Amino acid sequence: MPVLTVKTDKKNITVENGASIIDVCETEETSILFGCRDGACGACMIRVVENPQHLSTIEEHERDFLETMAAREDERLACQCKVLGDVTIEVSE
Ligand code: FES
Repeated sequence: MPVLTVKTDKKNITVENGASIIDVCETEETSILFGCRDGACGACMIRVVENPQHLSTIEEHERDFLETMAAREDERLACQCKVLGDVTIEVSE
């Protein structure tokens, strides 16, 4: 099973393949914050530190929002991501 590493909290969390980050982070009480849960507020912005290819593909809705926010290449919206393999994330400053 994949391991989601939340660098900000120094947590290595084993998750089901395809688990949504929002569900995992709320169960594990990480410091990633969520607001709208729909890719519209930016509260859940994360940086993908390792293995971005192990997150679900970015969809148009998320891409549009990230472009509007002038997000960095390694930033994603945690509420839109599913874990498909080992990946390391941290809260985006
Ligand atoms: S919680 Fe609002 S964009 Fe993710």
